[in-house]
Amino acid sequence: MAKYVAGIDFGTTNSAAAISDGATPRMVDVEGGKDTIPTALFFADKTNRVHYGRDAQNKYTNGDGSGRFMRSMKRILGSQTMRGGTVVNGKMTRFDTIIEYFVKHLKQKIDKAAGAKVEYVVMGRPVHFRDNDPAGDAQAQAELEKIALAAGFKHVAFQYEPIAAAFAHEQNLTSEKLAFVVDIGGGTSDFTIIRLSPERKFKLDRTEDVLANTGVRIGGNDFDKALSMKSFMPCFGLGTEYKSYDKNITIPTSPYISLSTWSSVNEVYNYKTLNMVRGYTVWGLEPEKTKRLYEIIENRLGHKNLDYVENAKMALSSQQDYEIVLDFLADAPLVKTNRSIFEDSIKSDMAKIEKSVQECIAQAGIKNTDIELVILTGGSTEIPYVSRVMQSYFPNAELSSANKMASVGLGLAYDAMRRFAEPQHTK
Ligand SMILES: Nc1ncnc2c1ncn2[C@@H]1O[C@H](COP(=O)(O)OP(=O)(O)OP(=O)(O)O)[C@@H](O)[C@H]1O
Ligand SMILES: [Mg+2]
Repeated sequence: MAKYVAGIDFGTTNSAAAISDGATPRMVDVEGGKDTIPTALFFADKTNRVHYGRDAQNKYTNGDGSGRFMRSMKRILGSQTMRGGTVVNGKMTRFDTIIEYFVKHLKQKIDKAAGAKVEYVVMGRPVHFRDNDPAGDAQAQAELEKIALAAGFKHVAFQYEPIAAAFAHEQNLTSEKLAFVVDIGGGTSDFTIIRLSPERKFKLDRTEDVLANTGVRIGGNDFDKALSMKSFMPCFGLGTEYKSYDKNITIPTSPYISLSTWSSVNEVYNYKTLNMVRGYTVWGLEPEKTKRLYEIIENRLGHKNLDYVENAKMALSSQQDYEIVLDFLADAPLVKTNRSIFEDSIKSDMAKIEKSVQECIAQAGIKNTDIELVILTGGSTEIPYVSRVMQSYFPNAELSSANKMASVGLGLAYDAMRRFAEPQHTK
């Protein structure tokens, strides 16, 4: 039987995989006929079962919710947090074990699609897992490699996610193009300048075609955080004061920041925070708001709230105004927001993203007007502000934005075909 190789796009928010046995790569059905799966896990405490993807989200929000829900685990790779663990249903569990559950799950789907145990994989990686931290960055890749090996792969290589996206788009090209790839997902913004052509795509070594790579650890998760802090958290008392003896003091921002950060939501679910917030419901000057904060923490509604925030953000990609009743709270408050509030809230994030674009152009030693093709990939490029800014840099380029959610996975499988081609079996 022909040897299968796989590509895995382990994303902050969504993951995907593709396989090839030498023929054109195909996407793997990773969840009920879908070629993407939310990078989410739910450890149900009653049944002791682990749920993945949409199933995890449904079990967590529609079941009785008791158990531990996790998202955005990729953001922990390479950090100090990774060295420790977290309590999952009463048991201390290492983060690498948690990520391994997820990668193993993807491997099972890959093996099922191939009808064989697949041993060769190219994993995607952001240009930087962590900003300005080469050691943390190397640590993150080493952790992910160990996890892939533990999940059952025998040969693991890595490729930058935007380069993979470029390889997928290259399949449709009829002439050579100097391309700028924009991949803005949930966790990172990654950029590549690469020469693509129908002839170059057969070359085994593409090093000289890649002119520059840059990236910054900002993505849709940060946009959710910005919108949450601007439009949602004030409704739970952010910016209000409490009375302490004869002084009025502003309530600390820390619980609001945790509740607005996908990877830190669970950090507020402890007795100390609950007790502190109970104090604000008594001494707070706007107790109707701090009572909502208390309710969120007591009933573990942080992820649910962030779901509402993310939906608001996505809705603002296609409409100007948005309002939503927070029906998971007893008094069901109304939150109103709009596109200009959102755009304003992500201005400083966008400035950092633009800086990374400028660095990429400088690193390549080209002019922005030399770029002939801009490839937009990753869910966050759906945001009008984001795509507007990206296009503004490249006035002579045509735009390609097909297959946004699958292109990285597919491109990784193309890369795997090249790297693990017979007879070399080399990395
Ligand atoms: N229509 C939309 N408008 C705004 N944001 C969107 C839209 N659709 C998806 N997103 C955002 O895109 C992000 C997910 O994109 P994607 O699946 O490309 O990320 P990822 O690959 O998981 O992350 P990364 O590559 O950074 O690890 C989420 O933050 C999601 O909220
Ligand atoms: Mg991605």
